[in-house]
Amino acid sequence: MGQDRPVELPAPQRVLLSAEQVAEKVAELGAQITADYASEAPLLVGVLKGAFVFMSDLSRAIDLPVEFDFMAVSSYGHSTRSSGVVRIVKDLDIDLAGRQVLLVEDIVDSGLTLNYLRRNLLARNPASLEVCALLVRDDFQFEEDVIRYTGFRVPADWLVGYGLDVGERYRNLRDIWVVDPSSDGIPD
Ligand code: PRP
Repeated sequence: MGQDRPVELPAPQRVLLSAEQVAEKVAELGAQITADYASEAPLLVGVLKGAFVFMSDLSRAIDLPVEFDFMAVSSYGHSTRSSGVVRIVKDLDIDLAGRQVLLVEDIVDSGLTLNYLRRNLLARNPASLEVCALLVRDDFQFEEDVIRYTGFRVPADWLVGYGLDVGERYRNLRDIWVVDPSSDGIPD
């Protein structure tokens, strides 16, 4: 079961957002999306891996016959931060032409991934493209209306849980935690 894998990862230190706070926000977002898309259910596009937990809960908070697809993207290391270049590792299966597309992200940090994905998805001629992000960095500046649905503004701490990882760990924590980068080990 991998229990013998060495554990040398920064440890979650304190809860930033409890599972209850997240659940309340997800319910609000789901209700808004249900109202906004009453005439035509959206196609939810999740960005792997981080968005899979949020998208799972969000979709069940939307009282419409939504459809699902997923993309996986990968950066080219540090060059991505300056160039905004993102590589598509897994593309969508569904044709977006004429669809009401709702892009679902766990976190918008620098905004480079979102900027790339918006341009990429708009080129596929959807009827509409909106973005729902659970977490958006406090200092992230964006053009008005780029992110239609925002869950929480969050500080520039290293966050894990509810889909967010460090070294592929902690995605399954129910709360969203701040990591202490100087520590080792697993959550208390
Ligand atoms: C995270 C998150 C976004 C991206 C945001 O993914 O899910 O896709 O980073 O960062 P940006 O705004 O600075 O571009 P990550 O690369 O950590 O991969 P993961 O979802 O597989 O954990």
